Amino acid sequence: MKVTLITGASGGIGEALAYQLAEKKHNLLLVARNEEKLKQLCAELSLKNGITAQYIVADLSKPDAAKLVFEESNNRNFSVTLLVNNAGIGSSGEFSKNNLQLELDMLQLNNASLVALCHLFLPDMIKNKNGSIINVASLAAFFPSPYMAVYAASKVFVRSFTEALTQECKPYGIKVMLFNPGFTSTNFMNTTANDNAWGKVLTEGAYTQTSDQVATEMIQAWEKKKSFHVSGRMNAILIKIGGLIPNSLIAKLFADSKRKKMKL
Ligand SMILES: NC(=O)c1ccc[n+]([C@@H]2O[C@H](COP(=O)([O-])OP(=O)(O)OC[C@H]3O[C@@H](n4cnc5c(N)ncnc54)[C@H](OP(=O)(O)O)[C@@H]3O)[C@@H](O)[C@H]2O)c1
Repeated sequence: MKVTLITGASGGIGEALAYQLAEKKHNLLLVARNEEKLKQLCAELSLKNGITAQYIVADLSKPDAAKLVFEESNNRNFSVTLLVNNAGIGSSGEFSKNNLQLELDMLQLNNASLVALCHLFLPDMIKNKNGSIINVASLAAFFPSPYMAVYAASKVFVRSFTEALTQECKPYGIKVMLFNPGFTSTNFMNTTANDNAWGKVLTEGAYTQTSDQVATEMIQAWEKKKSFHVSGRMNAILIKIGGLIPNSLIAKLFADSKRKKMKL
């Protein structure tokens, strides 16, 4: 059975995406850690939309998790024709004082597992001449972000990797899209590594979209076969303007502004 696999589908952007794709009759394979939430979501989506919605519980901050997801998907005879690498966390604060293990777990989740899932699912997509991948990066992929240094760097990785993969996959007819949300009202800023004073000054007064708006833009961009999309008109303009300013200056301005807001 052909399915769309969404990582990080138990909340936020991934959950909104699951709702919208289910309405479009995609069969779904949802991945996250919160089993209760996944179970309830799959039951609701199947019942409401007459689709197959199943889940796999996996902690993608663990090195072997991507392989387990791949094997479990194969055991269920699923053919993943759309892979959405959406799961991700952030971390806010001064790098030297942040919890190192949380930073390293974030890199495993935001980067290594994303790479592993692409690597595992691509060969069948190529063989079947059918498939596409959406990798979720961020506005942070375009700007160095002092006091969110590792998260922003992880998203630069997603951006560079995805832009390259898009081209490698072109001869096979496999579409790969880099999708970049800006601030979105989800649980993102409430997780252990993000929920602190540095995180709060970052989001204060920021232009923010809902997860539904972001999911709608993601689907529209994918349906138009775009290889790149920035969610939210304001965010797209910001990236264009930001591209004219040297990164070193952007980093300095961000750092100065955040220290000022923190009264340091
Ligand atoms: N919200 C924003 O302002 C914003 C801005 C730019 C980019 N983004 C990006 O958008 C993506 C989605 O974020 P969101 O805003 O929707 O955040 P969210 O509401 O916190 O949702 C994150 C999702 O990822 C899952 N997840 C977290 N850690 C995981 C792990 N170790 N293993 C497997 N799944 C895990 C969570 O489920 P469980 O807890 O059940 O595992 C949840 O389903 C991320 O890649 C994020 O970087 C968000």
